Amino acid sequence: MHFDSKLPDVGTTIFTVMSRRALEEGAVNLGQGFPDYPIDERLSQALIEVVAEGRNQYAPMEGVIELREQIAQKLHTSYARRFDPQTEITVTCGGTEALYDSIQAVVRSGDEVVIFDPAYDAYEPAVRLAGGRCVRIPLTPPAFRFDWDRVRNALSERTRLIIINSPQNPSCSIADAGDLDALAALIRDRPISLLADEVYEHVLYDGRRHASVLAHPELRARSFAVFSFGKTLHATGWRVGYCVAPPAMTAELRKVHQFNTFSIVSPLQHAVARYLANVPEAWSGLATFFQAKRDRLAGLLRGSGFEPVPAAGTYFQLVDYGALCGGGDTEFCERLVREAKVATIPLSPFYADPPPMMLLRVCIAKRDETLDAAAARLCEFAKRV
Ligand SMILES: Cc1ncc(COP(=O)(O)O)c(C=O)c1O
Repeated sequence: MHFDSKLPDVGTTIFTVMSRRALEEGAVNLGQGFPDYPIDERLSQALIEVVAEGRNQYAPMEGVIELREQIAQKLHTSYARRFDPQTEITVTCGGTEALYDSIQAVVRSGDEVVIFDPAYDAYEPAVRLAGGRCVRIPLTPPAFRFDWDRVRNALSERTRLIIINSPQNPSCSIADAGDLDALAALIRDRPISLLADEVYEHVLYDGRRHASVLAHPELRARSFAVFSFGKTLHATGWRVGYCVAPPAMTAELRKVHQFNTFSIVSPLQHAVARYLANVPEAWSGLATFFQAKRDRLAGLLRGSGFEPVPAAGTYFQLVDYGALCGGGDTEFCERLVREAKVATIPLSPFYADPPPMMLLRVCIAKRDETLDAAAARLCEFAKRV
C-alpha cells in the first residue's frame, strides 16, 4: 500500500544528521545542543533516593504537586508573580511536549501561526499536524531584530497564534521589554494567543535580564510560556519541562497532554522537586557559567577566520566563516566535519527562505577541554584553507 505522508518534506533533523556524522568522523561534536559534562551530583543522588523510596508509579497527569510547588516558587523568584500550581502549571515531557500541546490546543484547520526565522525546528511540523499554516517572518543577520511593522502586515483574520523564542535558538538574540510591548500592542484587539518558548530564560549575557511574557501583565493573560529543566539543570536527557498559562488555557493544554504523554516520569519529577528544595536558585549561576564558555571559545576563534558573532543569550554561538569560504553553509559544515573533525550546524535549515549569510551554529555547553580541542582544530583548518 502506498502510504501518504502527512509531512512529506520532513526528514531527519540536521541535529541528528550532524551528530551521526560526528560519530562517523570521530569529530568533536559542537553541533547538537547538549552538555558533555555531568549533572550536579546532588541531582543524581536525589534520583537514586526517590527510586529507592518507591516513587515509581504513574505521576498525576498535571505533574507531581511537590514539583509544581517548586516551579511556582521558582517563578516567583524569577518574575515576582505567584502562579497557581493547581491551575496554571503543567509538567511536560521536556519543553518539546509543552510546545506541541500548546499548538494542538490552539490551532485549528486553516489557522495561521506566525513564527520567526531562523526558527527552532519543532514549531512548524506541530502547526501543520494541527491543520494550520506557518507564516514565517525573517530576523535578518547580523542583529536578528524583530521587524514589528512586518509582523503587523503579516497578521490576518486567520492568525491564531504567534510563537516567540527568547533567548532565541539559533540566532542567540533576545526579545527585550520594548519588543514585548510592541507585540502586546499588535495583538491587543485580536483573538491571537502567544506561545513563548523561554527554555533559555536563565542564559543571558553581559548583565542583560530576561523579558519573560510572565512578567508582562497583558501578554501573560494570553500566553503559554514554555520552560525546560533540561536546559536549566544541564539534564537534557531527563526530558522534564513545564508550561505556565492562565487557568482556561492550561485546562485546554491538559486535554492534549493527558492523551499525549499522560504524565511524566515519576521519579524524575520527584528528584527535580527534591533537588530544588535543597538547592534553591540552582539556576542562578547559569549566565556566568555559560558566559565564561562563550568568552573562552570566542577568544580562541577570534582572528582565525571563524569570527564569533555577538551573542546575547542561549548556550549557542554563531560563527561567521565568510572570510574562509564563500560556499553554502550545509556543504561547509559537511566539509568541516570531514576535514577539521568538528561537527557544527548550518543556519540555513532554520529558514524557509534563507538570506545570504555564511553562519554556523556551535554549542558552547561543553567542557572547556572540548571547546579548546574544537577551537584548535578549527584554527588549524582555517590556516590550511
Ligand atoms: C528553542 C528551544 N525550544 C525548545 C527546546 C526543547 O527543549 P526540551 O529539550 O526540554 O524538549 C529546545 C531544545 O534544544 C530549544 O532549543
